[in-house]
Amino acid sequence: MTILVSGATGFVGSAITRHLLAAGIAVRAMSRSTSRAITKLAGDEAGRRALADGRLTFVEADVTDPGSLTAAVDAVDTIIQAAQFQGAPVEDPARGLTYEAVDRNGTLNLLAATGRIRPRFVYMSGISVAPGASQPWDRAKWQAEVAIRASGLEWTIVRGCWAYGRNDAALNRIIHYSDYLPFVPIFGAGREPISPLFIEDLGRFFTLLMRSPAQSRNTTFGLGGPDEVTLVQFLDLALKTMGRHRPILRIPKPVGKLQGAVMQYLPGRPLTPGAVDFVSQAGALSDEDRRLLRERFSEFQPTPVKEALRSYMPTYFA
Ligand SMILES: NC(=O)c1ccc[n+]([C@@H]2O[C@H](COP(=O)([O-])OP(=O)(O)OC[C@H]3O[C@@H](n4cnc5c(N)ncnc54)[C@H](OP(=O)(O)O)[C@@H]3O)[C@@H](O)[C@H]2O)c1
Repeated sequence: MTILVSGATGFVGSAITRHLLAAGIAVRAMSRSTSRAITKLAGDEAGRRALADGRLTFVEADVTDPGSLTAAVDAVDTIIQAAQFQGAPVEDPARGLTYEAVDRNGTLNLLAATGRIRPRFVYMSGISVAPGASQPWDRAKWQAEVAIRASGLEWTIVRGCWAYGRNDAALNRIIHYSDYLPFVPIFGAGREPISPLFIEDLGRFFTLLMRSPAQSRNTTFGLGGPDEVTLVQFLDLALKTMGRHRPILRIPKPVGKLQGAVMQYLPGRPLTPGAVDFVSQAGALSDEDRRLLRERFSEFQPTPVKEALRSYMPTYFA
């Protein structure tokens, strides 16, 4: 069985790749840069071993370039699509870095490239994705989901909650403010419910998906952690785990969006109004999401937030 992981160098895709390799499954890792993928995935002992025994291979392709995808999808049994545009959630339309161009059109290009191969298609979507969504990230992913369901391929869609862990670009970035500030800033009140998902649980879940296709055939899952917390509670837990005490500074969203409206014109485009909306949104599992996970994968026991944070934070921030 060969599995193409699109987005294999990313936070989500690299965790999926690591877990699949650890489970003895062969992965063709897709990236726009093979040297980046080798550095990211073959740097540790497990990756080197997988490379040596031929279970880890690489393909250079760009989801916005349909011509590059033919070789990527050749003879694969399953495609896992976990690519998103560089710099997300800060869109940069002038450089083609948008949800529409990469998350949606990139997925449509991958589907089109499958041609007569008919692989299973597994899509990493987001927990807030729903029909009639108004935000560009939800709209693009919803349209990608619609195309996947209509493709005639066997599919599984995983709508992930906010994923965190070693090397994540969100929680770690916020917590790092406590290295040099007496407070930790967030946009909005931080009271929206979220079900943070430990990245190692995400990797484990994708391994289950690969091993038990019948339990996830043509099904959409919400995937999150066992705890429902607010952003402020989540950050408090992370800070406590590191032995730090910092108040959370709540920057009102309209002020954040005003900042974004100015900062989008700075070099490197550090912030946009849309990114402020993205990072302050809710993202919790529903009762139905939890019921479906229990029913289909009773062996899947995601890690409580406190336990997950304790497993990597003290050493990561030491
Ligand atoms: N992180 C989370 O908390 C979270 C939660 C729920 C859902 N998700 C979803 O999971 C997916 C992956 O997120 P992530 O956090 O792992 O993102 P990430 O760390 O930013 O990784 C993005 C990946 O996409 C690849 N990529 C970017 N542009 C590409 C292109 N034009 N062609 C081919 N590959 C391209 C990058 O590979 P190269 O640069 O090497 O080409 C990289 O591997 C996204 O769809 C995201 O919405 C993430």
